Amino acid sequence: MKTAKRPWFLAFTLLLSGAWSVSSGTSMAAEPKAAIAMPDKFSAEMAEKILKRGGNAVDAAVAAAFVLAVTYPEAGNLGGGGFMTIFATQKAMPGQMVAQVQQPYFLDYREKAPLAASRDMYLDGKKQPFPYRSLLGYQASGVPGTVAGLWAAHQKFGRLPWKDLLQPAIKLAKEGFIVPVKLQRVRNWYQKWIVKKAKQPLNFNAYFGHFKAGDRFKQPVLAETLSRISDHGRQEFYQGKTAKYLVEQMKAHGGLITQADLNAYQVKWRQPVVANWQGYQIISAPPPSSGGIAIIQLLKMKTLLDDDYALAKTKALKQGIDPQVVQAHFYAELSKRVYADRAQYLGDPDFMKVPVKTLISDAYLLKRTEGILWDDISETETIKPGKIESPETTHFSIVDFSGNAVSNTYTLNMPFGSGIVIEKAGFLMNNEMDDFSTKPGVANLFGMVGGQANAIAPEKRMLSSMSPTILLKNGHVDTVVGTPGGSSIITSVFQTIVNIKEEGMTAQQAVDATRIHHQLFPKDVIMYHPNLPDTVKEELEVMGYTLKQNNYLGDVQLITLKDGHWQAASDYRERGVSKVFGRRK
Ligand code: DON
Repeated sequence: MKTAKRPWFLAFTLLLSGAWSVSSGTSMAAEPKAAIAMPDKFSAEMAEKILKRGGNAVDAAVAAAFVLAVTYPEAGNLGGGGFMTIFATQKAMPGQMVAQVQQPYFLDYREKAPLAASRDMYLDGKKQPFPYRSLLGYQASGVPGTVAGLWAAHQKFGRLPWKDLLQPAIKLAKEGFIVPVKLQRVRNWYQKWIVKKAKQPLNFNAYFGHFKAGDRFKQPVLAETLSRISDHGRQEFYQGKTAKYLVEQMKAHGGLITQADLNAYQVKWRQPVVANWQGYQIISAPPPSSGGIAIIQLLKMKTLLDDDYALAKTKALKQGIDPQVVQAHFYAELSKRVYADRAQYLGDPDFMKVPVKTLISDAYLLKRTEGILWDDISETETIKPGKIESPETTHFSIVDFSGNAVSNTYTLNMPFGSGIVIEKAGFLMNNEMDDFSTKPGVANLFGMVGGQANAIAPEKRMLSSMSPTILLKNGHVDTVVGTPGGSSIITSVFQTIVNIKEEGMTAQQAVDATRIHHQLFPKDVIMYHPNLPDTVKEELEVMGYTLKQNNYLGDVQLITLKDGHWQAASDYRERGVSKVFGRRK
């Protein structure tokens, strides 16, 4: 058993024990293999079954996402939203010709601010934030996108019937599942956290407050909702009975989401951010996520300074200093610059122009690396955004037998979101409104600050860090990776890619490795996984950093090719399950 701290509230601890995960590798040439890295065993079992039954990666993703809405209620959801990065062949619709080649796609099913939202909605008369209003209760939710997202993915790529993909989730909701220890722990933590914070009563405890680890937990109302979605598709959630229940409850309790909001909700197929790096093509999340841009900035800046980095490590070794000190300082310096850009330039691209090309261009990034010293910390106050001349989330990774891939991150934001259950429909609502900048310079749950680019506006999507990522090599999937963890998603995905591609680690070593995180603010704070050696911490403190232990820096789910063999790995610190398998086994 280990003591873990969730990133969103460093002050709160939560007990987590070692998770189990399986990783293996098998030859691709002999027999096609599929691979999955899933956040729990129920979704892993289901994804494997769907793939063996002839479903593709998107079918498996849709089925798994609905299963997680039942068995992983802290983050799996109907009342939230997310992003899906896909590499696949689009299905031909009747009368339509589509290119029969695998291509990258990016599906944005992020929540949107309700029509009645306004820039200062979380500020009082003195322009001070109302505590917790963007986090708890009826006003904390954005308009959910998950059902529309899963429906859109299935329409474009799905091979198995929609109804078949919902069946496993309906069964698990109706017949129940045995509650894992870790689910009880995160629930207990949330129960304690919500006490006395919300200004209006939450109904969380009535639905989720009583199960215990080892109990069979049944959700009959949710089973009904899933059955209706199975029968009527997307329309049920946005215009059917489920919509009616949601809107009625919102209206009765001062919530903002109306039928007009549900009618207006649309997913977006966007161009993913793409960059070449070390012989790979990185495909990742574009705005309204900051993730893809930030990860590419980190990787490219690292490469630009790799020679100096190697020299600095050699010098440190000669002085008897652990090279991990140099690594942590280097990553913190890179992160400072990346998070400054994030706060200034990134927001919903439907509302503003985001200079994506410039932000990931070599010339821009070369300038951004200026001022990095190996033995001194850059003054936080001097790290401004670069000059632009022109203008409890959960992740899973799936590769099917045909080499199609899905990298999906979706969320309610905090574990269990706003604490509000839609009573007649049995699902939790998100508290994603907190991802907006509620006031310039005021930190959100994850300590993120922002300004105009991420200010609240009706129908706007709030800035995200979620980064479902796929790496291609010679046009084929090489790696599928992503994680929850709020603002630390970016640095976790970055470090995992470096671990597998540059540090020579296996998939399991790469996800289990000790990670560190720095995000510009709080000033010179480095968060670290508990097994960072004391000597490294001490050296970093001597340099001027403040070290904060944080057992929860994501839950990375990784699939990667090593010498022509798939390896799959789930972060040992959580409850994920990963597996590589053939059609028969
Ligand atoms: O979109 C985002 O960046 C956040 N809402 C993600 C929240 C998250 O990862 C919580 N997870 N552990």
